[in-house]
Amino acid sequence: MPRPRPAHAPVTATSSVPALVANALPLLDLAPAADDLRRDVLDGLARRPRSVPCKYFYDDHGSRLFDQICDLPEYYPTRTELAISRQYAAEMATACGPHTLLVELGSGSSTKTRVLLDHLRDPAAYVPVDIARDFLRSAADELARAYPRLPVLPVCADFTRPFTVPADRLPAARRTVVYFPGSTIGNFTAPEATELLRNIAALIGDGGGLLIGVDLRKDQDIIERAYNDARGVTAAFNLNLLTRINRELGADFRGEHFRHRAVYDAGAGRIEMQLLSTRPQTVQIDGHSFDFAADEVLRTEYSHKYSLEQFAGLAAAAGLGVRQVWSDRDRLFSVQYLSRA
Ligand code: TRP
Repeated sequence: MPRPRPAHAPVTATSSVPALVANALPLLDLAPAADDLRRDVLDGLARRPRSVPCKYFYDDHGSRLFDQICDLPEYYPTRTELAISRQYAAEMATACGPHTLLVELGSGSSTKTRVLLDHLRDPAAYVPVDIARDFLRSAADELARAYPRLPVLPVCADFTRPFTVPADRLPAARRTVVYFPGSTIGNFTAPEATELLRNIAALIGDGGGLLIGVDLRKDQDIIERAYNDARGVTAAFNLNLLTRINRELGADFRGEHFRHRAVYDAGAGRIEMQLLSTRPQTVQIDGHSFDFAADEVLRTEYSHKYSLEQFAGLAAAAGLGVRQVWSDRDRLFSVQYLSRA
């Protein structure tokens, strides 16, 4: 029997709690309704192959597990992007310009951001945008403490949908730069990525920029190892999606009857994260029932890898031009600065 769903999404602290740090502005909550999860999960599970949007990985626990993924020896992207950022932070900061409003999409724990903030000249404000409310709140608070002169305005939102921050909540800035690290752009299909980049182009306007992390095409083994770590953290992260759906939608997924799998499709240039049903089983979600065959796949995420040319093409389709590219000597990863074409 499905458990009854709570009438309201569990919300702990609220923005009425006074900020403890003067430059930590109250969180702006544009979070998706609990109903979005229900609709997206029921829609995705009814499709063939079945799928669930990857943004739902990031509840509080999922965000913590993702931080652990970033520290894994097999997971090269975070380490490499951080090293590139450390090496070229001054150039990146120059590209971003002085007195800039920095908006980060999917900010998580804002680790890489600090490298950039250490080099930006007189930044106007930092706006971390993330879907995981409590995780965002504590990350923003910590960051505000570390940068006491920087106004920090956390925005809880699903950035895959257009959202607006009311102008009166923001300090005046000379320009807006969107920071989008982690190769999160790779988690979108080409049409979705184009739409997102178009929204970013609109947000930054003619004077602004986009500083983005893009994972590059490389040897298949390196990629597959990064998403199939020996300690099983990635498996736990993937399976946590089912735990979340159980908790928030009263579903009865049994995690022990699903298995994590990540396979690289060299033709498509993307790794696909899956949860594999290990036996025939039926799952109940809020009055709907879904029959899984043995070995049936539930797709939870794509992670696309691009060549520099491919990514430039994608950006061009969204009206953006690549101005600068920074990379590591093995060409594993890239950080790129773009502005409107
Ligand atoms: N943006 C990250 C990536 O594509 C997200 C990610 C890393 C991820 N490891 C994962 C998502 C494992 C699901 C499972 O690399």
